[in-house]
Amino acid sequence: MGPSVGIFDSGVGGLAVWREFARLAPDAPTLYVADQAHVPYGPRPPEEIRRFAEAITRFLLDQGARLIVVASHTISAAALWPLRETFPDVPFVGIEPAVKPAAAQTRTGVIGVLGTFGTLNGPLMARVVERFAQHVRVVPRVCSGWVEQVEAGLLEGEEAEARVRAHLDVVLQAGADVLVLACTHYTFLAPLIRRLAGPEVSLVDPAPAVARRAAEIWRAQTRGAEEETDPGFNRGAWRGDARTALHRFFTTGDPLRFQEQLRRLIGQDGPVERLVWGLKDTLQTASG
Ligand code: DGL
Repeated sequence: MGPSVGIFDSGVGGLAVWREFARLAPDAPTLYVADQAHVPYGPRPPEEIRRFAEAITRFLLDQGARLIVVASHTISAAALWPLRETFPDVPFVGIEPAVKPAAAQTRTGVIGVLGTFGTLNGPLMARVVERFAQHVRVVPRVCSGWVEQVEAGLLEGEEAEARVRAHLDVVLQAGADVLVLACTHYTFLAPLIRRLAGPEVSLVDPAPAVARRAAEIWRAQTRGAEEETDPGFNRGAWRGDARTALHRFFTTGDPLRFQEQLRRLIGQDGPVERLVWGLKDTLQTASG
């Protein structure tokens, strides 16, 4: 079965990465944490996001994860480097805005980058623009409200369209012909964005590339684990219903709501366990 992979986000956005990862590595046991008690992360100060990310990582490692996928641009921007420093032995896969492929594709010379405040003003964004987008015009757009919209399941219909247009029209009017989805939640708005933007505009979604990278690392770890005897690598060591499942989902919000979101967004069924924030940024399962 191989080692467990911990994947996390503020909410449902990382499920886009999870879905792709589960397709590429169907035997990999996964643990997914959605910190829905705190979603959205985008407007929060980086220090706060770092504290949440560190606590979630500790929880995932305690549950047996041997690889951590930060399935969020906002969390990667605020916390990826500090996490690598705090947990030097743990492999992390994070996400940066996919400015490089977008800059290579544009014909108008203008690319739109759609993301949260934290991502667009964070260090990863500054780095990729400096490295890869010197020759194009980058139009960043903080798409306020989209994360909440996806959490609410508002993906189609009049209201969804109006909310998407409010930001999309601005980047299209600036001449962008390539749009970077720099927030994992936005993957679920991609069909609507594509329809509204029309066939001349292409979208770049880094979720599949992130999942590919994670699957590569997981495969290498699995080969290594076969030669080891560490029982932590084997999920079969756990007892009880959800604990022996191949995929475990956790939320700090409402488990029933998250279960419904799982079904609607990625067609995944399964129990969701409730996580509770304790004192000093600790996380534990509601059952203790
Ligand atoms: N889905 C996350 C991202 O990729 C987090 C969004 C948020 O909570 O604001 O940025």
